[in-house]
Amino acid sequence: MILVTGGAGFIGSNFVLDWVAQTGEPVVNLDKLTYAGNRENLSSLDGDERHLFVRGDIGDGDLVAQLLAQHQPRAVLNFAAESHVDRSITGPEAFIQTNMVGTFRLLEAVRHHWLKLEGAARADFRFLHVSTDEVYGSLDAGAPAFTEQHRYEPNSPYSASKAASDHLVRAYHHTYGLPVLTTNCSNNYGPYHFPEKLIPLMIVNALAGRNLPVYGDGMQIRDWLYVKDHCSAIRRVLEAGTPGEVYNVGGHNEKPNIEIVQTICALLGELRPRADGKPYTAQIAYVKDRPGHDRRYAIDASRIERELGWKPAETFESGIRKTVTWYLENADWVERVQSGAYREWVAAQYA
Ligand code: NAD
Ligand code: TYD
Repeated sequence: MILVTGGAGFIGSNFVLDWVAQTGEPVVNLDKLTYAGNRENLSSLDGDERHLFVRGDIGDGDLVAQLLAQHQPRAVLNFAAESHVDRSITGPEAFIQTNMVGTFRLLEAVRHHWLKLEGAARADFRFLHVSTDEVYGSLDAGAPAFTEQHRYEPNSPYSASKAASDHLVRAYHHTYGLPVLTTNCSNNYGPYHFPEKLIPLMIVNALAGRNLPVYGDGMQIRDWLYVKDHCSAIRRVLEAGTPGEVYNVGGHNEKPNIEIVQTICALLGELRPRADGKPYTAQIAYVKDRPGHDRRYAIDASRIERELGWKPAETFESGIRKTVTWYLENADWVERVQSGAYREWVAAQYA
């Protein structure tokens, strides 16, 4: 079996669902259930003995040690993190606690467990750390995309805390020999994405008749990867990646934010036209920019393609259509995640 952390979040829950469906291998899922964690994402696995959910913190070394001793997973995959840049600007403390201190405590528990393993169990054990392209900082227009050799230049409390976690993971390989793998991925989108990030926020606001808040001039560029493609990349790195190495994961979809918003408006216009017949673009509102807003991220994913034979299956056009359709078909899920705490965040952030 494997142990996944943060498996009730956006990417983690997509990963757990795909993993069980495709491999049938049991998963222990350790998640603190912060505002971003949602047990409901995994309700299709209720009663399935291949999924064991444990509510807890990656920073709780005793709990992690107990889970490792009890279940003897062949791998630990670390998705758990505080992940929203805007929240890291208004409240960085939780990012330091989970992304830095939490990853450290998790690594310590895993190291002590791994040292007790013998033979093939020890040689084949893996710790896979899921990270972000944001650790590399911001690119100028026309500059080459981030390779694995790009210097770390994190600019937000979120990316700085993820960069620190990547460095710890690297150090545990070099110092202790722990067989680690790190993936640095671009912006994900798809089902179960919490509606405070760009793509789900725009879909949800558009349908509710609210403004579509575009930061600054809307010309910031991100590379977008459909979440199921990220999950397949992680499975492939776990299976065939070389311990101690880093793999960049991207979707070959660099797009300015305003183009993303316009694409969503066009799809909604086709699939769920506004009652007044007007285009959803009428709801676009340019708002105050994010402080320290990174201008451009771009991923060079040639290493994972060349060495491990991984490529994304979705184009942006196919992935965004699936995503908009999922949100249209899962209005109940959206309604339930828009709790009081969610409404307070939206009110404060877009005041
Ligand atoms: P998310 O915020 O949706 O989910 C994070 C999950 O971690 C939640 O279920 C939360 O309850 C859990 N968690 C938080 N703190 C915890 C703790 N101390 N102990 C245990 N569980 C805890 O995030 P996501 O978008 O699914 O991202 C998953 C990982 O992928 C993160 O490490 C993130 O940095 C990375 N990543 C995300 C993206 C993206 O576009 N979303 C891109 C690249 C990398
Ligand atoms: P986001 O989804 O928060 O991801 P990240 O900051 O990790 O890239 O934001 C994606 C881009 O969209 C980013 O450039 C900020 C921008 N953005 C808006 O313009 N308006 C919004 O309301 C949000 C949430 C994001």
